[in-house]
Amino acid sequence: MPWSRTTGGSLTARAATPAVPWRRGERVNGRARRVVFWGATGQAKVLREFVAARGVTLVALFDDTEELASPFPDVPIYRGREGFARWLAEVGDPSEVGFLVAIGGEHGAARVRIHRFLEDHGLEPLTAVHPSAFVADNARLGPGCQILAHAVVAVECELGRDCIVNTAASVDHEGRLGDGVHLAPGARLAGCVSVGDYAMVGAGAIVLPRTRIGEGAVIGAGAVVLRDVEAWTVVAGNPARLIGSREPLNPRAAEE
Ligand SMILES: CC(C)(COP(=O)(O)OP(=O)(O)OC[C@H]1O[C@@H](n2cnc3c(N)ncnc32)[C@H](O)[C@@H]1OP(=O)(O)O)[C@@H](O)C(=O)NCCC(=O)NCCS
Repeated sequence: MPWSRTTGGSLTARAATPAVPWRRGERVNGRARRVVFWGATGQAKVLREFVAARGVTLVALFDDTEELASPFPDVPIYRGREGFARWLAEVGDPSEVGFLVAIGGEHGAARVRIHRFLEDHGLEPLTAVHPSAFVADNARLGPGCQILAHAVVAVECELGRDCIVNTAASVDHEGRLGDGVHLAPGARLAGCVSVGDYAMVGAGAIVLPRTRIGEGAVIGAGAVVLRDVEAWTVVAGNPARLIGSREPLNPRAAEE
């Protein structure tokens, strides 16, 4: 068992089960035939539709939002870490259960943090690629990546952990995404673009070749990005201009 109970009844992580890496051509990796999602809104609906088609059954949802009802009558929802501990106590071997973090928006840091939490408790991180998406044979996807319908990840791209390439978004040749990056529906990265950890590129935005987008930056919907974007800034418009900034992430917060 990858976890144990302390005498006080709380759960203590031991060495996590090694993640099964995503292999070329795979749609959902790993051994698990049962999956849980952390996040119970739109992204959960999108993910359930295609993991179900790969023979993987959604057995539970977790969400921090009080009063949020499960979007699926057949799947129970549990609140936060306390709810997770209750669920875990009932589950036989958590290493037989996979997980996906179904949180989109600009919450990439939360996605990475929750991924670590679930992995530390022995669940298996899944990487999911919609059957209609194109992922080049020599592209690399980190654990927890979600590549949605009609998305493209082109030749020699490298994606870190927990990236979302949303519906019809694309990363062209030699693109580099850090951890927890989100490309919203229809966002387009031209060749050799790099995007820092936790950045989000809004719906329908276009990023020109070789541009570098800094950590935690947000690109507004429909923006046309001609120049490098500073970390933790918000840009929008055509051409994209600075419209705001975000609070930089405390590096320790990402580890908690
Ligand atoms: C860019 C963005 C993050 C800014 O949000 P915000 O900080 O709340 O900004 P506000 O709505 O207060 O707007 C600030 C100004 O920027 C302008 N603005 C906001 N978003 C813009 C956009 N996408 N393009 C052009 N201008 C934009 C507003 O009109 C406003 O201008 P004003 O000061 O002249 O009135 C947001 O509008 C956006 O585009 N988010 C992407 C959403 C998305 O793609 N989601 C996908 C989820 S899957």
